[in-house]
Amino acid sequence: MPDTSDRPRFRPEPDHFALRGRMAPEVPTEMMAHIARVVGLTEIFARRHEADLAVALRAAQGHDLLRALPKQDWLRMAEERGLEMLPMERERPVLLHGPLAALELEERFAVQNPLVLDAIRYHTTGHPDYGPEAWSMFVADKVEEQKLAAWPALRQVLDLAGDSLEAAALAYLTLTEQRDLAMGREIHPLAIETREHLARRVSIPAVVL
Ligand SMILES: [Fe+2]
Ligand SMILES: [Fe+2]
Repeated sequence: MPDTSDRPRFRPEPDHFALRGRMAPEVPTEMMAHIARVVGLTEIFARRHEADLAVALRAAQGHDLLRALPKQDWLRMAEERGLEMLPMERERPVLLHGPLAALELEERFAVQNPLVLDAIRYHTTGHPDYGPEAWSMFVADKVEEQKLAAWPALRQVLDLAGDSLEAAALAYLTLTEQRDLAMGREIHPLAIETREHLARRVSIPAVVL
């Protein structure tokens, strides 16, 4: 019998396999391949650091839902949603692909877990409130094999990840800050806040660009 009541329908939160299936029609093959590499590495990090695997894998699967869109689309979507944007985010709209993906995954893909959504929202800068699930995904995203091949300095991040995901994330944020400063690029304030937070918790050897 059809349900005619006003009760909201139960929409089960998709696991990472279901999410992959739903994302595949709208995400280019190359981006799906990057995501698959990130999911694989996230599993290794999450198991090693005793993170909730289901949460970490869902975050990894969803993180780049919108990464392949052109920048005009990120700007348009952010405008339509009334997303608050920093001037640097208007200049470099790629910084919006995480926050926008979190909103889209919640609305269109029934992702509800705030740990998953926040991991995705902040995956470009990290966040001081990140836990082991989000750090598993964050670090995996930065050191998957193609990114490592493109920027060998990332080996320093990978080498730290076995012992501490926070140390690995600190190394990554330090490296990218040094690189961006050398390029005359503004650093995202949340990346600075996250790096300073991590530096109070862990120490790392000096990183070399
Ligand atoms: Fe991304
Ligand atoms: Fe990514």
